[in-house]
Amino acid sequence: MTNPNLPSTVGVLGGGRMGAGIAHAFLIKGANVLVVERDEASAEAARERVEAAAARSIERGAVDGNLDEMVSRLNITVDYDDFKDRRLVVEAVPEDWDLKITSLRGIEERLADDAYLASNTSSLSVNGLARELKRPQNFLGLHFFNPVPASTLIEVVLGERTSPDLAAAAKRWVDALGKTAVVVNDAPGFASSRLGVAIALEAMRMVEEGVASPADIDNAMVLGYKHPTGPLRTTDIVGLDVRLGIAEYLQSTLGERFAPPQILKDKVARGELGRKTGKGFFDWAE
Ligand SMILES: NC(=O)c1ccc[n+]([C@@H]2O[C@H](COP(=O)([O-])OP(=O)(O)OC[C@H]3O[C@@H](n4cnc5c(N)ncnc54)[C@H](O)[C@@H]3O)[C@@H](O)[C@H]2O)c1
Repeated sequence: MTNPNLPSTVGVLGGGRMGAGIAHAFLIKGANVLVVERDEASAEAARERVEAAAARSIERGAVDGNLDEMVSRLNITVDYDDFKDRRLVVEAVPEDWDLKITSLRGIEERLADDAYLASNTSSLSVNGLARELKRPQNFLGLHFFNPVPASTLIEVVLGERTSPDLAAAAKRWVDALGKTAVVVNDAPGFASSRLGVAIALEAMRMVEEGVASPADIDNAMVLGYKHPTGPLRTTDIVGLDVRLGIAEYLQSTLGERFAPPQILKDKVARGELGRKTGKGFFDWAE
């Protein structure tokens, strides 16, 4: 049965890693979900991702329900016109400004005037995106974390013109998804990337200055502050190149305190990108 705290109809643009996770999150809580992809092959891949995630949730006992019933509430197409009856659409296409703008405008022109639109952007300005839309009051950021089923955090990113009604509704939706909302006024890096990267950059400067080894620096945070993973190991998992990109962006928007340390630039230049290349601040060869 549809959860009264969720929009009765939900749309997701892009059924990749994040979009499929977002579709799954709404589906397992009873919503009617439409995913729109760019072509038939991507639509098929998106369907497989969402259905496999739903099946896993049922197997693990994380969700009560029947897979056939869940799948009957999932529709995957390649036609933006199918968004027209959606009460909420979450955009989850790749992180490219022009693509986001074209996609968001394409969705907005099909939605009812009182329907809501969200972007899952991890770094673009919500105010900047809102300025390109006709109804900025109906738009906000919903920053889901990867992997969506295992993550309990959603950053609700409010633009200057996001309506109070939408802000309140978004918190109800996050609750109804069984996750926790962190509400952020739009700012570079939101709350999570800004703070996570700040700690990691300081940890890198400590390695550079010979204060302690990467393992000891990480243990200081894991054992002393109960972080599940230390800042340098997290950097290895995320990718040093990804973190360098975020640091450069935050440096350009928030100032020199986010300037990437030389050790990070050198490691990226040498191809030591972390887990994916077998070496970063730690050795991952095994
Ligand atoms: N991967 C992460 O860890 C993560 C975490 C939080 C937020 N994000 C953000 O989520 C968004 C999506 O990232 P992702 O990792 O899921 O990317 P992805 O490449 O896995 O998925 C993107 C999907 O969008 C589809 N697509 C591309 N152009 C399209 C179009 N014009 N119309 C419809 N579909 C289209 C692709 O076919 C693909 O399935 C990005 O903004 C990213 O910054 C990613």
